[in-house]
Amino acid sequence: MKTLANTKIKIRSLSKTFYSGQSVKALENINLDVYENEFLCITGPSGCGKTTLLRIIAGFESYEGEVLVDGNPVTSSGPDRFVVFQEFDQLLPWKTVFKNVEFGLRQEFGRCGSNPGIFKKSRF
Ligand SMILES: Nc1ncnc2c1ncn2[C@@H]1O[C@H](COP(=O)(O)OP(=O)(O)O)[C@@H](O)[C@H]1O
Ligand SMILES: [Mg+2]
Repeated sequence: MKTLANTKIKIRSLSKTFYSGQSVKALENINLDVYENEFLCITGPSGCGKTTLLRIIAGFESYEGEVLVDGNPVTSSGPDRFVVFQEFDQLLPWKTVFKNVEFGLRQEFGRCGSNPGIFKKSRF
C-alpha cells in the first residue's frame, strides 16, 4: 500500500538548468514520489531529462527544489543509491548485468555484504 510512511524518494518542484555557454533547462517543476519496493520506469524522447533526473537522485548534480531519499535531502552520492551507467566504458563488459550491479555493492559492503540476501536474489 502506498503511504507517506514508505515513500522512498520524494521530489518536489525540481528544476535543473545547465549553464555552459547558453543555458539549457533540462528539468522544470518535477514532482514525483517513489515508494519502497516500487519498480519505476522513466521514459521519454532523447533529451527530455531522464539521465539528468537519475544523476540528481544519485547525487551527481546540483539542483533547485527538493529531493529527499528516506526523508533526507540529497546533497551527495551515497551507497544507498546505485546507478548502472549505460556507457560501455563505465561497465565491466565481461560481467553480466547482475555482476556489474553486484560489483559496486561488494566494494561498499564486502564479500557477503551487510545484507547477504541481496546477492542471492534474481539472476540476469
Ligand atoms: N552536462 C550538461 N551540460 C549541458 N547540457 C546538458 C548536460 N547534460 C545534459 N544536458 C542537456 O540537458 C537536456 C537533458 O539531457 P538528458 O538528461 O541527458 O536527457 P535524456 O537522458 O532524456 O536523453 C538535453 O538538452 C541535454 O543536452
Ligand atoms: Mg539519457
